[in-house]
Amino acid sequence: MDLNPDSILADVLNIVKAHNKWRRLETINLIASENVMSPLAEYVYLNDMEGRYAEGTSGNRYYQGTKYIDELETKLANLMGYLFHAKFVDVRPISGTIANMAVYAAFTQPGDTILSIPISAGSHISHRVTGAPGILKLKVMNLPWNNEEFNVDIDKSIKLIKEVKPKIVILGSSLYLFPHPVKELSEVVHEVNGYLLHDSAHVLGLIAGNAFPNPLDLGADVMTSSTHKTFPGPQGGVIFTNNENLFAPIQKAVFPGLTSNYHHHRYAATAVAAIEMMKFGEAYAKQIVENARTLAEELHALGFNVAAENKGFTRTHQVLLDVSKLGGAKSAALLERANIIVSKTATPWDKTFKEEVSGLRLGVQEMTRFGMGKDEMKVIAEFMARVLIKGEEPDTVKREVIEFRKEFTIVKYGLNPKDLGMDFEPKILL
Ligand SMILES: Cc1ncc(COP(=O)(O)O)c(C=O)c1O
Repeated sequence: MDLNPDSILADVLNIVKAHNKWRRLETINLIASENVMSPLAEYVYLNDMEGRYAEGTSGNRYYQGTKYIDELETKLANLMGYLFHAKFVDVRPISGTIANMAVYAAFTQPGDTILSIPISAGSHISHRVTGAPGILKLKVMNLPWNNEEFNVDIDKSIKLIKEVKPKIVILGSSLYLFPHPVKELSEVVHEVNGYLLHDSAHVLGLIAGNAFPNPLDLGADVMTSSTHKTFPGPQGGVIFTNNENLFAPIQKAVFPGLTSNYHHHRYAATAVAAIEMMKFGEAYAKQIVENARTLAEELHALGFNVAAENKGFTRTHQVLLDVSKLGGAKSAALLERANIIVSKTATPWDKTFKEEVSGLRLGVQEMTRFGMGKDEMKVIAEFMARVLIKGEEPDTVKREVIEFRKEFTIVKYGLNPKDLGMDFEPKILL
């Protein structure tokens, strides 16, 4: 290994440049859990708050020097509360996983039972015993799932909730095509003295744009989320509730429980993203859902096995393909060679999924943000069919993907420093 610092430095810069060029300018990114920030959000993301500490809550810190962090944290919490109809908001969790863990830590004891969607149907690892609930020694049981409805089976879930009296029932998932039955389950969860948690990580931007029901309006006790999927902020987490009694233990779980620094430099960029959702959220969310539906229909017309045809394929940013003939991993790898980035996923009908999964999960939010509409979804479907159905050499398609992407490099539905009269445009290292 070459340990010459100058040559390693050159390597580091070159790696970043190569990554930025490839993922920002040359690929069609269909990873459903990612997004890009606007130029203004990216610009304010780099700030001195990055290196500071502010343990505690706004106005009640263990450190000096936090007056502006206090002000910003409060402003961001208020902004998010307004946008998502929540009286109490904790913006300190550094990720969606930490937000979920804080909720479990606040309301459960080791040995308690929680219910979540089966992993094959799309629940996140932070809802499962292999993740945060296991670390907290919780027992995790599956909510019954209905493949036909591509949703939680309401009647069977009500029965199970009455039987096992879980402390927490988690709705919301990583593979999320249709809204989960928050209203239908919240009453019975409350009857057994449990809490209904909705994990909105994937759909937060759609909720902000009124394209997806707000779980807090429908009876969820707590809503957790990441801030960087359909909601186009920097990577981070957030917790919402309208119940003051629940908020105090959640705050305690976040600090001193699970975090000591909160990556405060992201607050300004998160606030910019929230403001962008206020200004452009409806148009953005509407276009995302239309694009996802169009992509699903086009893929179906081209011969792909697209999940949930009977339900109209999707009501979110996501589309699920069953590629069991070729396999999820192989399909995703072939598409990557064509510069189309997707993630393999289990499908609810996969029997075993440790070794090979049969699905591809697609998300259109990032490409929508770069200005793509229905016409472009048709082009993407065609590229995918050429690689996965017609067996065309991925390198040939890749050249066309790079050309196609050149028209879509400017973030739409977002702010630019130029919009505020600043006469420069921030650029990532290229
Ligand atoms: C439903 C869901 N919850 C939580 C998370 C975790 O979020 P984070 O990566 O911010 O920890 C994810 C990540 O993709 C997710 O899909």
